[in-house]
Amino acid sequence: MRKHHIVILPGDGIGPEITEVTKELLEIISQKHGFQLIFDEQLFGGSAIDFTGEPLPDKTLEACKKSDAVLLAAIGNPKYDSLPRDKRPETGLLELRAKLDLFANIRPIKILPSLIESSSLKAEVIKGVDLIVVRELTGGIYFGKPKGRIEIDSGERAFNTMTYSSNEIQRIAEIAFELARNRNRRICSVDKANVLDVSQLWRDEVEKLSKKNEDVEINHLYVDNAAMQLIRNPRQFDVILTSNLFGDILSDEAAMLTGSIGMLPSASLSIDGPGVYEPVHGSAPDIAGLDIANPLAMVLSAAMMLRIGLKETKAADSLEQAVNKVLDEGIRTRDLMNNDCVEVGCRKIGKELQKAI
Ligand code: IPM
Ligand code: MG
Repeated sequence: MRKHHIVILPGDGIGPEITEVTKELLEIISQKHGFQLIFDEQLFGGSAIDFTGEPLPDKTLEACKKSDAVLLAAIGNPKYDSLPRDKRPETGLLELRAKLDLFANIRPIKILPSLIESSSLKAEVIKGVDLIVVRELTGGIYFGKPKGRIEIDSGERAFNTMTYSSNEIQRIAEIAFELARNRNRRICSVDKANVLDVSQLWRDEVEKLSKKNEDVEINHLYVDNAAMQLIRNPRQFDVILTSNLFGDILSDEAAMLTGSIGMLPSASLSIDGPGVYEPVHGSAPDIAGLDIANPLAMVLSAAMMLRIGLKETKAADSLEQAVNKVLDEGIRTRDLMNNDCVEVGCRKIGKELQKAI
């Protein structure tokens, strides 16, 4: 029987409850499709800080490195905001991305017809939206050096460095070309080349690559314009290729096209090591433990893991179909509610998904 080793990182806030739902579904789906998933649950984020003082303990990192794929729920809680930066949950996430060389973050944004009314945008604007944000994840201003805070005469000065090398730009752009080729063959590369040198290099490198990939159409937008175009006419986008910081911002914005950030999955990939699959949303500590969280982004992240990381395509299809079916039936968590729908909690929507598989 095919066997896959999965590290599970439930993390903080609503993390554990959405993990439980997802794990049960994965057990069912693996049995049904004739493979075995071996789960290894590890500490990460705030829960790891509470137990070990570190957001990414060595044991967790080693387990992730040895796995076939990592499934992460969410991390973070305001109670850690006063810790030194290197001890905060978010730093653990950045370290995990860096140590596993997860330079390619893929965030698909697809409007499900059943959720059109849940968006804050008009149905006519978002109908048919199907785009992917390809975000560079291990470089740019998130990791650039020098960075820090220093004392100066008049107080303090703080600084970060936005930096990219040609190689870093080329490897993420190549991922975008590859993805575009299996879709509508259009890439919009987003930068701020009218102001930033780092963005000019980004644009130059993407242009060079586009000469070698003439089957894919390339256009460039400045990030401010891209942010505006995303809500003006999101259907114009197929693959959006961008840097770490711009991708962070644009992917949250794009997420809201779907009605709820609670719907969006993501994959963070390296060249050949295990990927990390996680919902785009955060740990939502304000609703943790209330059984009202929407687990669908994590379930859809698990589907991405099955498809991309484990090559279990049929199982991935059937998990995604189960999500569509439950939504079509009008079964919703609170964040997606509208008239004529039935509101259920996190556990209950999990049971409905089990029935739909
Ligand atoms: C994301 C998150 C993270 C990021 C935070 C939690 C560090 O916002 O994955 O988009 O900024 O990358
Ligand atoms: Mg973000």
